[in-house]
Amino acid sequence: MYTFKKFKNKKTERIISAKDEYLYISKFGKILDFTSGWTGYASLGHNNKEIMNSIKKQMEKYCHVDYNEFENPLIEKLSKKIVSFCKNKNKKIWYSGNSGSEAIEAAMKLSYSVHFSKNKKNKSKFIHRSQSFHGASLHPLSVSTFDIFQMYNKIKTKNIQVNQNNIFTKYDSKVSMGIKKGETEKEHLERSLRNLEDTIIKNNPDNICAMIGETQLGSLVGDVPPQKKYWSEVLKILKKYDIHLILDEIYCGMGRSGKLFNFEWDDIDPDFVCVGKNTTSGCIPFSFVLSKKNYENIILSKLGRVTLGHTFQGHSLGVVAADTVLDILKKNKILSRVNKYGEFIQNTLHSELNENHFFSNVRGRGFAISVQHDVKNQNLFSNDLKNKMLEDYRILMNIKFHRTSLTPCFNMKKENIDKTLEKFIKVFKTLSHNHKKYN
Ligand SMILES: Cc1ncc(COP(=O)(O)O)c(C=O)c1O
Repeated sequence: MYTFKKFKNKKTERIISAKDEYLYISKFGKILDFTSGWTGYASLGHNNKEIMNSIKKQMEKYCHVDYNEFENPLIEKLSKKIVSFCKNKNKKIWYSGNSGSEAIEAAMKLSYSVHFSKNKKNKSKFIHRSQSFHGASLHPLSVSTFDIFQMYNKIKTKNIQVNQNNIFTKYDSKVSMGIKKGETEKEHLERSLRNLEDTIIKNNPDNICAMIGETQLGSLVGDVPPQKKYWSEVLKILKKYDIHLILDEIYCGMGRSGKLFNFEWDDIDPDFVCVGKNTTSGCIPFSFVLSKKNYENIILSKLGRVTLGHTFQGHSLGVVAADTVLDILKKNKILSRVNKYGEFIQNTLHSELNENHFFSNVRGRGFAISVQHDVKNQNLFSNDLKNKMLEDYRILMNIKFHRTSLTPCFNMKKENIDKTLEKFIKVFKTLSHNHKKYN
């Protein structure tokens, strides 16, 4: 009664505890969490013991020291470790604070600071793609198009939206960003790129700071990897006009794609990459930005300081938690597991559901996978599918609108992956018999 309620009429279950791949909730008791905490952050399960122990150990020493005022060896150690995962080691890590939104804002500020240092102070606008979400604080919202935040339009800053038809799947009328009927993949890519360059020219490149996009479209559209060569071609255009590329990997980074950074699949060198959510498996909110190394010198030599300015940048409990996450990923060869079982999940769903008239496609990278439903009454179908998985089998899956997201924790037991796929396919097929109800 005294807690903040997001919805007037939504009934939510009370949480009791969480451990590894399970949640314990009031109505059902133990349930299998195939969502990594609903929005995909508990990458190594809930309350991961190793991560919790590292936090407890650090708490005995110090929880946080201001990282402008003191040198903190933990930060140096973590930065080195993150960069060791990158193909190009010429990188700098900026600690942005707690949330993904703070990482986006930090990247926006850093990008502008670089232009400012080069006397290009008018470069202040950001290009963002349609159907995108980059966070709920006001600047990230100003580069987002999420409907539910529309009421804030008047207090958002004005940026530039571009339509990018960046989808790799077959023709599908239900995806507005999809390939047009009769269009080849090459034509499709060319159309996106033309649209981007036209938008840049129309808005005057001298006023544009950076383009921002999720490496793999995730939060709204549902796990659509970029077309081959999309990002490398985008980068060529941006370079021509001295516009930075900020990639948002808050949802799809930190191992979720099967590589630590999702952009490594595309073999590109973006200017800034924002990481949050999976950094500490949800034990402590913690985010950072990866950038090209020389940007630090450009800013420092002109301005003498880099101004991000949050109290809890590089919080030591977050630092040790993220450090432990990276150790676990390496020690247990977790990323190759994510690749192997991610492929297995996609192949199984494709072969079992491909003939089903409610199945449109399955796509994604690693453990960021979506199944798209080809159903007229999407909300009804999604609700029934979600409720049946939970009520009949005690499995929590993030199913809404046009898609089911499959975002298990990276160390989910194979038997639980098998069980979830078996039940999901069964329920999907059973519901699809009731054609009339959903179409
Ligand atoms: C792609 C993407 N970017 C940014 C954010 C914002 O992260 P946070 O909610 O931690 O501020 C989210 C959160 O869902 C996200 O999915």
